[in-house]
Amino acid sequence: MFLPIRAVAAIATAFSLMVGSWGYTMPQRNPTDTLILVNKQNKAPSLKPVLVKPNVTPTSEGVSENIYMRPVAAKALEELFAAAQEEGVILYATSGYRSYSTQKAIYDRRVKERGKARTELTTAPPGCSEHQTGLAMDVEGESTRDSGLTKAFGESPEGIWLAENCYRFGFIIRYGEEWRKITGYSYEPWHIRYVGVEHSMAIKELNVPLETYLDMLRTQRLSELEALAITGEDDT
Ligand code: DAL
Ligand code: ZN
Repeated sequence: MFLPIRAVAAIATAFSLMVGSWGYTMPQRNPTDTLILVNKQNKAPSLKPVLVKPNVTPTSEGVSENIYMRPVAAKALEELFAAAQEEGVILYATSGYRSYSTQKAIYDRRVKERGKARTELTTAPPGCSEHQTGLAMDVEGESTRDSGLTKAFGESPEGIWLAENCYRFGFIIRYGEEWRKITGYSYEPWHIRYVGVEHSMAIKELNVPLETYLDMLRTQRLSELEALAITGEDDT
């Protein structure tokens, strides 16, 4: 049985759109996608990303080799830090890219110190950290520079500025206070994640975690594809 030529064309268009947008609907399958989802259920790609050192001030000399990022995120971070400085807000970079073995060392040390259950609320198991993508950075500010990465940063002028402005540069606050059940981690006002300006602005507007946002994108994309397939059938 032969399908009408227009039906074949509609199916082909829908299929090519689906394949073309695969990285968009399922970003965790594409290691170069800046929307990649990494969490306890979705591991970071094992391929090491291309990395550069952003031209920003590290929190201390000791962490200056720990702040590498993917070039697109590094450039956005430089712009973010420069804009903050222009507004009198001094930010420092503490932790960017981490290899699997670095994350394993951090995780293992914390498990020894505080046990597995407490560790897993704050520290990703090796293989599951966003820091392995080169798209995340832990940020500190002048007023809490000596206290390390603590919740106090969220209430400091620098933490408040970061939460209000990181979206303008393509970053999101990845682990919001209310999102622990979805993200799997407690509040981290210092951890920013690059997703690109288009998405960071939408995420700020929607005020949802990345997991929820990606679900929304997938649902929207699938209904677009469905609508296209229906339109194609009607045409024949
Ligand atoms: N602190 C975040 C969840 C990490 O370890 O990647
Ligand atoms: Zn972090």
